[in-house]
Amino acid sequence: MVVILLGPPGVGKGTQAVRLADSVGWEHVSTGDLLRAARRAGTELGRKAQAFMDAGELVPDSLILDLVRDHLKGIPPEAGILLDGFPRTTAQAEGLDGVLEAVGRRVDQVVVFEAPDEELIRRLSGRRSCPECGAVFNVHFTPPKQEGICDRCGAALVHRADDKAETVENRLKVYAAQTEPLIEWYGRSEAAVVAVSAEAPVDDVQREFRKAVGH
Ligand code: AP5
Repeated sequence: MVVILLGPPGVGKGTQAVRLADSVGWEHVSTGDLLRAARRAGTELGRKAQAFMDAGELVPDSLILDLVRDHLKGIPPEAGILLDGFPRTTAQAEGLDGVLEAVGRRVDQVVVFEAPDEELIRRLSGRRSCPECGAVFNVHFTPPKQEGICDRCGAALVHRADDKAETVENRLKVYAAQTEPLIEWYGRSEAAVVAVSAEAPVDDVQREFRKAVGH
């Protein structure tokens, strides 16, 4: 099964994907995480992506498609896949169809997470991320046991540079202009499109998400 998690920045795609992947053993593929890892490793891709990410703009489609193509190659053909933060444009969606078709697969389901902008802004202003293991916390909702320290690996938590108010505003605009149209695009495809309200606490959203994907 190939499932796309679609939704604006801060809606909880990563939080929900990690929980489901951990519990059912599916592969979680987050292009944001892959790009941040490339930046930390100082690769050419990381250097090229940096300015786009810091400005809250999308990284060019060609770079993203190469990254995803390479990453998907390493996933066994029978594994369930949760795509988080990809695709974000119709060009990426078309590219993904080609990559999946080559291995006899297709997008089975698109889950659209929804929450009002005020809630997204609150979540992103409180988000603290672990640069080492990728764990995500929130000073308002799910604080770490020790302030500023990752519960999972003990590294110092960071407030992502692109979670600053002015960048968040741009990311929301970019989502509305370039990614939201994918909901209609997938509505015309064979994939099932299901909306899940992401306003409730994390466990409640997870329950709805699991119902939507039949787990
Ligand atoms: P990316 O990392 O993908 O960012 P995003 O899509 O903007 O999503 P976020 O990671 O900000 O939010 P999320 O929905 O995963 O929320 P989370 O679970 O963390 O992309 C970053 C950048 O990389 C892009 O701007 C772009 O430049 C580039 N990029 C990435 N992919 C690309 C692509 N395909 N094409 C081109 N460019 C690309 O939750 C947020 C916070 O809320 C957390 O603190 C969490 O603890 C909390 N929270 C979650 N759920 C709840 C809840 N139910 N109740 C209360 N708090 C909650």
